Amino acid sequence: MITGEQPIETPCSFVIFGATGNLATIKLYPSLYSLEEAGKLPEGLHFVAFARREWDDTAWRNYLRESLESKLKDRFDEQLFEQFAARFSYFRGELHDLASYAGLKEELATPRMGNCTNVVFYFAIKPSEFATVVKNLDESGLNKPRGLHRIVVEKPFGHDIESATMLNELMHKHFDEEQIYRIDHYLGKETVQNLLVFRFANTLIEPLWNRNFIDHVQITVAEDIGIGSRADYYDKAGALRDMLQNHLMQLLTLVAMEPPPALEADALRDEKVKVLRSIRPIPRRSVHAHAFRAQYAAGAIHGNQVPGYQDEPGVERHSITETYVAAKFYIDNWRWRGVPFYLRTGKRLAVANSMIAIRFRHPPQQLFRETPLESIDPNWVVLSLQPTESMHMEIHVKQPGLGMDTRVIQLNASYRKMHETPLDAYATLILDVLEGDRTLFIRFDEVEWSWRVVDPILKYWEQERDFIHTYPAGSWGLHESSRLFDSEDQEWRNEL
Ligand code: BG6
Repeated sequence: MITGEQPIETPCSFVIFGATGNLATIKLYPSLYSLEEAGKLPEGLHFVAFARREWDDTAWRNYLRESLESKLKDRFDEQLFEQFAARFSYFRGELHDLASYAGLKEELATPRMGNCTNVVFYFAIKPSEFATVVKNLDESGLNKPRGLHRIVVEKPFGHDIESATMLNELMHKHFDEEQIYRIDHYLGKETVQNLLVFRFANTLIEPLWNRNFIDHVQITVAEDIGIGSRADYYDKAGALRDMLQNHLMQLLTLVAMEPPPALEADALRDEKVKVLRSIRPIPRRSVHAHAFRAQYAAGAIHGNQVPGYQDEPGVERHSITETYVAAKFYIDNWRWRGVPFYLRTGKRLAVANSMIAIRFRHPPQQLFRETPLESIDPNWVVLSLQPTESMHMEIHVKQPGLGMDTRVIQLNASYRKMHETPLDAYATLILDVLEGDRTLFIRFDEVEWSWRVVDPILKYWEQERDFIHTYPAGSWGLHESSRLFDSEDQEWRNEL
C-alpha cells in the first residue's frame, strides 16, 4: 500500500480461477508463499483452487509442493509449506458450467471458510474467458454483497479498444468499479514505484525532467525466455498486446506524468491518463515509421540452442505473431513536446534486462571544439528495473594529466541494502487487494487510452499478414528497428 488509505474489511476467502495454469503456478503461488513467510497473510484466509483436473486435496497439494519446490529451491521450507498448504482446498469445476459456481457457492459457505462475507475472485485465466466467468459469478449470486467481493483481472484487458470497452461494460453490469482490480504486475515492482520517489522526492532531478534537457527516453523490457507452453494465449496476443500496451505504457506514464496533487489512487491515475491522452495519434500512413515488429527464429541463448517461434508447441503454422515490438511515441504536452519515447520489448533476446534510459541533450555551447574532445557524448540517467534494481548516472570528468581528455564515469546506486529482501510484485499487489487499496491497479480510462494509442498499429498490422521479420534467438533483435530513431546519433542502449 503506498497511500494512507484506510484498509477496509479483509477478505477471508480467495478463489483462484485457473489454479493449475501458468500464471497461478509461476507467479501467484510463490508470491502467496512469500506473504506467508513474511507473516502477512491474515489469519483465517482460505484459498480455493478452482480448476478442471479430477483431483482431490492430496493430488492438489502434491502439485503445489512440486511447483513451489522447483521455483523456490533453497527457500522452500517444509514446515512453512505445511502451514501454507493448509489454507488451500481444491475445487473441481468448469469455468463455463453454471453448476460449478453453485457448488463453489456452497463450498464458500462451509464452516471451514469461517463466517465469510468477503471473497476475492482471482482471474488467472485466458482473457477470452473473463466474460464467461463474470456472467456466471453474477448468475450464481457470487457477485453479492456488492462492495465486499472483489475480482482481480489480469491484463491484457480486451484485445483491442472495442473488446476492452465491451468487457468493461459487462463487468460494470455485474460488479461496481470499487470491486474491480485490474492488475498490471509491473506496478508492484519496487523500482517502478521508486520512479515516483526518484522524480518527486528529489529536487535535483525534477527541474531537468523535460524537453529542455532531455533528448529522448528509451524503455526496454528484454526477456531471454521464449513463450514456453503459452502458445494458446500468446499466438493470438503477440508482444504488443502482451507487454507494450500495458507494462511498457505504464512505465511511460510514470516517467512522463506531472506530480499528482496527492498520493491517492485517483489523483495518481488522473495524471497517468493525462499523459496517455496527450500521446500523438499515429496516422495510418506513419505506422511504418513508428512501429517495428519481428519474431524470433532458432538461435542460442546463453550458449544453448533453442527453437524458433514457429517451432514452439502450439504455434500456428506460418504465424506472423510478433515476439518483438519497438515503437516511438510523442507526448504533445508542455513538458514533452518533441521528445521521442522509444519503447521496445522482446522474447528470446540476448539478455534479460529491463531499464529506463534517459538521454540528455548536448551542452548548448561547444566549449571544447578546439580540443581533442570536440564532440562529447551526452549524459545518461539509467534506471534499471531488473535483474538489478539500481540507478546509474553518466557524467564526464577530466582525466588527470596534462591533456584535455575526458572519461565517462558512472555514479551507481543500488536501491537495496544487503539485508533487504524484495517482496515480489505480485505479493505487493495481492496484499493491496486484501487491504482494499486500488492505487496500484489500473482504472478503465487508463486501459482505454492505452488501447487508443496502440490501436492504429494493431489495425495496420492486421492487414499486413504475409510477412514478418525474424531475428535469431539470443540477439538484440534487428537493426531495422533503428529506423524509428529521429536522428543519427540516437541508438538503442542495451547495457547499463
Ligand atoms: C507477463 C507477460 O505479463 O509479464 C509475459 O504475459 C512476460 O509474457 C511477463 O514474460 C514478464 O514479467 P516479469 O515480471 O518477469 O518481467
